[in-house]
Amino acid sequence: MKWIIANWKMHYGPIKAGAWIRAFRRERLPKDVEIGVAVPHISLAAARASLGRASAPLLGAQNAFWGKEGAFTGETAPEMLQELGTSFCLVGHSERRIHLGETDQMVGKKVAALAAVGIKPVVCVGETKAQRDKKETLKVVKAQLTAALTTSDLLVAYEPVWAVGSGKACSPEIAKQMHESIREILKKKFGARAEQIPILYGGSVDENNIHEYFSTTDIDGVLVGGASLDPRTFGLLCRAAARG
Ligand code: PGA
Repeated sequence: MKWIIANWKMHYGPIKAGAWIRAFRRERLPKDVEIGVAVPHISLAAARASLGRASAPLLGAQNAFWGKEGAFTGETAPEMLQELGTSFCLVGHSERRIHLGETDQMVGKKVAALAAVGIKPVVCVGETKAQRDKKETLKVVKAQLTAALTTSDLLVAYEPVWAVGSGKACSPEIAKQMHESIREILKKKFGARAEQIPILYGGSVDENNIHEYFSTTDIDGVLVGGASLDPRTFGLLCRAAARG
């Protein structure tokens, strides 16, 4: 099953989130693609209410804390997300690593806490331009990934930082190479179970390039930021994902 996940980032409070979901429900959606939308915490309840009985898209969060409850001002526990029927949660997005100082170790703890309550972590990994230029890509991604593999029940998103929100998507060839390396790391850790772990590509995916990723082997789906903000464009991307 291929995956396509929208990441709204810090867009859409409850009112706009509800409107987005209602508009997206009018889109014709493929059956053989898993569709998810990662929304801000504050909009999860509104998105859930607007979804009604519709089974797609799956609702996801963009972050979670690793503790169950306690003196952690401003944080959200996986259990709280679970109450709203949250199916998956992004972890370690590069914007959180850069702007909020999220470390590989924190990512590992978040992954374990989410998995413990049955929310699928979507672990984001990827190198900066400087790291790629210094030929450190594999080392960086390996470290990010290794710290995050506290469960095998997860998804991985390869998101080179230089391709995120830049309009400069990573070529499908480079993405394919990285996905192969990531699969090898997963196999070393989990053996045959690693084959079941979806590896998504993210970074400036849009309606013009999505076909290239879906027609490339070893790319099991995409994570879409900017191009997911319009529900009609995202509907179009979902249909493109089904065609491969
Ligand atoms: P982008 O973001 O599609 O806007 O590049 C992708 C992401 O950050 O997940």
